[in-house]
Amino acid sequence: MSESVAPNLIAAVDEARQWDRLMQMAKLGAIPGDGVNRPCLSPLDREARRLLIGWAEALGLAVATDELGNLFLRHEGSDPEAAPVLTGSHMDSQPNGGRFDGIWGVLAGLEAVQAIREAGLATRRPIEVVAWTNEEGGRYAPGCMGSMAWSGFAKPDSWDAVVDPDGIPFRAALDEHLAAEADLPRRPLGAYRPHAYVEAHIEQGPRLESGGLDIGVVTGIQGSRWFLVEIEGKTDHAGTTPLSQRQDAVQDMVRAITALNRLMQDPADVLRFTVGKVEVFPNSSNTVADRARFTIDFRHPDKDVLLARGAAIPGVIQAALTSCRATVTERFFALPVEFQPEVPGAVERAALAQGLKPLRMPSGAFHDAQFLVPLCPSGMIFVPCRDGVSHHPSEYSTPEQLAKGTRVLAAALLELAA
Ligand code: GLV
Ligand code: MN
Ligand code: MN
Ligand code: MN
Repeated sequence: MSESVAPNLIAAVDEARQWDRLMQMAKLGAIPGDGVNRPCLSPLDREARRLLIGWAEALGLAVATDELGNLFLRHEGSDPEAAPVLTGSHMDSQPNGGRFDGIWGVLAGLEAVQAIREAGLATRRPIEVVAWTNEEGGRYAPGCMGSMAWSGFAKPDSWDAVVDPDGIPFRAALDEHLAAEADLPRRPLGAYRPHAYVEAHIEQGPRLESGGLDIGVVTGIQGSRWFLVEIEGKTDHAGTTPLSQRQDAVQDMVRAITALNRLMQDPADVLRFTVGKVEVFPNSSNTVADRARFTIDFRHPDKDVLLARGAAIPGVIQAALTSCRATVTERFFALPVEFQPEVPGAVERAALAQGLKPLRMPSGAFHDAQFLVPLCPSGMIFVPCRDGVSHHPSEYSTPEQLAKGTRVLAAALLELAA
């Protein structure tokens, strides 16, 4: 280990404490197979937040929220007026999610701050640990609502009318949530411009593990577009209505998806195109469906490809229909981002100084970090996860892999907050 690492800081990052907190969090929304289902703004989400707040208050951090429910835990700097360094991630999960996606980044922030304090290392700048509201977009689409509203990328009332699978509007869920947390100090959205933002996350892909590497130094995030396609036909009896007289929403949905698969062909295999959610109404085996709905998740690192193929989506769908009508609504559009050099530099220095093996790499997943880029130098730390699996209960990283990531985070925060 090099001279430049504060050895007491590295020793103060407590692998067992971090793991124990992760396992306590994993109980909140536990599903079979070691998974987690913790929807944003749900009672389980609030329980997880109270657990986190308890640990933060025991440590002497100041707690605050904002009108989107983003949660901040503040370690004071010797210069309280200095722009804070911000770190964190999200606490909501996929509906069939794992124990590490998101929550580790929040707990790594807490552990890093605790280590800095226990090592007796004062920072000039404040450090704040944030838990962004609704990163996954599982209960309410799209994801990253908290960070998009905080950064000014989207208006905070943009999603008021979006409903969850039970028909509860986002605004109603948010109001209920804010009422349940009315005892917490409330700040304005985007209360300050951070000095820097660092987000720790499991890689959610196989590169680090297969390369025998410890740390991903994330250089940027590919762009994403989400669409909702709603197809409307006519319901009929399956036994009596001739095929030639039907307006079968399922058949036209299949035609539309087939045409989209042609549009999204990519010999380089860089483009990502996913239809991950399909709904059919009335969903009865002997009734012709009058309505069908599916989602499109389309990603690419090249802005021009995102623009051109994304623009072609509605026309390709319309041309594929034979008897139904379709409405195509775009719900999310984030251009690719490249992180400014400061944070990747600090992360890479920290990894090398600790004798760890880093790899510079882009992120295929989207993250709250991409919405901080216009505000401040931003970046991410990845750690390996088993078989590259994520968004599934079997998602796993070892306590040691996670502790290495947290040690790198702690050292990077110490440098950035100096
Ligand atoms: C975020 O969870 C993503 O889908 O990239
Ligand atoms: Mn995540
Ligand atoms: Mn995720
Ligand atoms: Mn994500």
